[in-house]
Amino acid sequence: MKKVAALLFASVFVASSLGFAWIEDDEEKPKHTIKKVMAKVFKGKTALLSKVSKGTATDEEKKAFIGYLKALPKNTPKKGDAESWKVKTAALIKAGEAVVKGDEGGGAALKKAANCAACHKVHK
Ligand code: HEC
Repeated sequence: MKKVAALLFASVFVASSLGFAWIEDDEEKPKHTIKKVMAKVFKGKTALLSKVSKGTATDEEKKAFIGYLKALPKNTPKKGDAESWKVKTAALIKAGEAVVKGDEGGGAALKKAANCAACHKVHK
């Protein structure tokens, strides 16, 4: 009887971890809303964008930064056309990755791509 219980427990465990893996593989569903990305990445001096730009972000924070940026194109903004959103968010991800990697020119590209007013005017 003990063996059966152990087996049952094991299969439930395996099934649930497979379930989680499947959810994480779901590429279409955004992991974060636009509002959450704004709060975590863009808003304020202690936000990730500021830390990454200044070079004070930890590796963990750099990873989170890219993760948040990558959630943006999977969201649909309430305003503006889809093509413009795609272009803007792709530029952000590209520039963000360049800065995290320490590529030359990454900082300037990120500053341009993270222009709050330019994006808000069209999409917010
Ligand atoms: C690539 C486009 C884009 C860029 C760049 C961008 N934002 Fe936003 N932001 C948006 C959109 C779209 C919304 C509206 C989100 C909604 O209402 O769902 C928004 C909303 C916000 C909000 C309101 C969030 C809320 O909870 O209602 C704040 C604050 C904000 N942005 C700050 C900033 C700051 C500061 C910067 C620049 C450092 C910035 N954003 C750059 C697209 C952008």
